[in-house]
Amino acid sequence: MSVNYSEKIPNNVNLSEDKTLQRALEHWQPEFYEWWSAMGPEGSRNFDVYLRTAVSVDRDGWAQFGYVKMPDYRWGIFLNPADAGRKIHFGEHKGQPAWQEVPGEHRANLRRIIVAQGDTEPASVEQQRHLGLTAPSLYDLRNLFQVNVEEGRHLWAAVYLLQRYFGRDGREEAEALLQRRSGDADNPRILGAFNERTSDWLSFFMFTYFTDRDGKFQLCALAESGFDPLARTTQFMLTEEAHHMFVGESGVSRVIQRTSQLMKEHGVEDPARVRALGAIDLPTIQRYLNFHYSVTIDLFGSDQSSNAASFYSSGLKGRYEETKLGDDHVLKNDTYKVLELAGDRLLEKEVPALLSLNERLRDDYIKDSIGGVERWNKVIEKAGVAFRLRVPHKAFNRKIGTFAGVRVSPDGRVLPEAQWQANVREWLPSEQDRAFVASLMGRVAEPGKFAGWIAPPATGINRQPVDFQYVRFN
Ligand SMILES: [Fe+2]
Ligand SMILES: [Fe+2]
Repeated sequence: MSVNYSEKIPNNVNLSEDKTLQRALEHWQPEFYEWWSAMGPEGSRNFDVYLRTAVSVDRDGWAQFGYVKMPDYRWGIFLNPADAGRKIHFGEHKGQPAWQEVPGEHRANLRRIIVAQGDTEPASVEQQRHLGLTAPSLYDLRNLFQVNVEEGRHLWAAVYLLQRYFGRDGREEAEALLQRRSGDADNPRILGAFNERTSDWLSFFMFTYFTDRDGKFQLCALAESGFDPLARTTQFMLTEEAHHMFVGESGVSRVIQRTSQLMKEHGVEDPARVRALGAIDLPTIQRYLNFHYSVTIDLFGSDQSSNAASFYSSGLKGRYEETKLGDDHVLKNDTYKVLELAGDRLLEKEVPALLSLNERLRDDYIKDSIGGVERWNKVIEKAGVAFRLRVPHKAFNRKIGTFAGVRVSPDGRVLPEAQWQANVREWLPSEQDRAFVASLMGRVAEPGKFAGWIAPPATGINRQPVDFQYVRFN
């Protein structure tokens, strides 16, 4: 029986005209569905969810909103429109036409880059798969599912590139993307942060704020790629990614709002008394922030990396907003400042810019992520509570790069092990913190109702009211 995938898979890549690709996807699609039903959102089968589905790449009107039965979501393949005259604008091939096929000498690296990015997509779905059971409202449940189906679509995007451009190797990688499992001892996901648990909703909001933002920066760097199909694919993924970060930023903001409001109402500051009111105390929120932030900035890799240099020089992966930067886009003679450990101090050092591209992307990320933290602080301030959240020092709790294994406090002091151990309870979520947060989690499934530890959002989704029936259970 032949399935017309050009209709079944919404796409703007002329799928029906490429029989080889169509066969490869025909083979992969049922395996994806199997993976989704085993590892996708638990207990969501047959829910009608008010979701947006990408249906085109038009700036206005790329998405359609409506009820979708979860497993029937139409995962499509979309690339931004081609720009016929597009050139490679950085590295050694600068000025040459962008590649429409994979250049032989860059094949292995390109495949590796696409696989590393693609692997994060199903990983986050796996990490979040139990959260639906404890959603604090229908609005939040819908947002969780929206993020999940779109990460699923991002997996399709990676698989499209692998199957269309990398032949047999690409097909094997596409299979492997469905075989690795987040947190699995034998066959884990590729990157560390994607093997951590996302076991409660505060973690989910922190993850979508911090870790989806890592996705944004990686996608932005790939959107510059000289390999045109990769650039066009990631450009469109960024359109969806914005909502994921909104879910995170507004989610944390609503938790903070609720906590601050209860603190003011009852005149309490002591974390134990805040907890007794059924809210998440601000120091615990700070510890979650410290954890997600530090685990996420590890994702950018080693501070100095010859791989990053060669990805850049060969035109595969650019810098954040490459085209807006005013230098020569080759960087052979440039330097960049990185931090180094000198005895028990952290000192800046100039190193070749090409080697420090990971660090540069991490620094761009840090600037971007601080913005939301400041907005969270406004919420606390407005409630009249004296507390400030801050991002920890970038050397805090690192597992990758120069600071792996170095003990550094959130304010940037290098510490002996004993001092770290004596304070870590203040800096990172403990088992008790996690157990407390977990104790607040319980599904609220009545339209317009919200769990006691989180404020309602200011507005609904797609101009629907906050008390809209975002999910119908059947
Ligand atoms: Fe994604
Ligand atoms: Fe995302």
